[in-house]
Amino acid sequence: MGFHKFLLAIYIFGSALAHFSLAQSSPQDYVDAHNAARAQVGVQPITWNETVAAYARRYASSRVAEQCSMEHSGGPYGENLAEGYGSMSGSDAVEFWLTEKPNYDHNSNSCVGGECLHYTQIVWGGSLHLGCARVQCKNGWWFITSLVHTSCAQNSQQDYLNAHNTARAQVGVGSMTWNNTVASYAQNYANQRIGDCNLVHSNGPYGENIAWGSGSLTGTDAVNLWVGEKPNYDYNSNSCVGGKCGHYTQVVWRNSVRLGCARVQCNNGGWFVTCNYDPPGNYVGQRPY
Ligand SMILES: *[C@@H]1O[C@H](CO)[C@@H](O)[C@H](O)[C@H]1NC(C)=O
Ligand SMILES: *[C@@H]1O[C@H](CO)[C@@H](O)[C@H](O)[C@H]1NC(C)=O
Repeated sequence: MGFHKFLLAIYIFGSALAHFSLAQSSPQDYVDAHNAARAQVGVQPITWNETVAAYARRYASSRVAEQCSMEHSGGPYGENLAEGYGSMSGSDAVEFWLTEKPNYDHNSNSCVGGECLHYTQIVWGGSLHLGCARVQCKNGWWFITSLVHTSCAQNSQQDYLNAHNTARAQVGVGSMTWNNTVASYAQNYANQRIGDCNLVHSNGPYGENIAWGSGSLTGTDAVNLWVGEKPNYDYNSNSCVGGKCGHYTQVVWRNSVRLGCARVQCNNGGWFVTCNYDPPGNYVGQRPY
């Protein structure tokens, strides 16, 4: 789960673009290209956001003087960059990032056989606001930037609860409630991981799911990663098939009714998220629901 990088750049060369068409660089073109890819994997649509787009335009404009050199803006958003010449449009850039799709292996949640992080940014469930811009530099090259805002403040008690309770409701399991004792435990343990962000369990009295990521991994992102194991859980055999599913079964464990989560930024810049469950789930030989 540690592969998340929210800043990716790619160079597109003219030869790869020979077949691409003109004039596909409107906001709707960018949105359509993103949402087609998101729909294919069941992720909610992203919408155009003027705040994000204004940021994209400002940054793209600032690249003109730099001859379109591929550098990230270092801002608060996830960012995909592309550069190319000829008639490269905005849609072309998105299509190019999407060619990484075959490299993303959902079961292991990792890139196999090549880059895939431009693709995972496009289909990232928590990223809901999109802004893109395209400029032509003095050397004739096009510079395209696509920024996504991973919806703000997804680290509240309610955010953690919503992400859990949505997954539980889907399988007819009742809601969890927030518990301050459990949350204090989670926070205390998260604080102990600030030095290294290591994916090590606390081995305490509660059930526990942990995650880490760079960029801006939110609490909701972490829960969504765990819930992403759902396809691997086979209810009939009550076992994981084709990949991990233990994080998911803890999320939907019926008897685990008290939740507490915490998120810290580690010294290496990454984020560590931990959720604790009381009573714990994942008892061998029992079904979650
Ligand atoms: C646009 O994105 C910003 C974050 O950059 C957010 O604060 C704002 O609420 C968004 N606007 C809309 C209309 O969603
Ligand atoms: C919170 O959880 C603890 C166990 O960790 C339990 O003893 C306590 O009663 C719970 N508090 C509430 C208000 O449910």
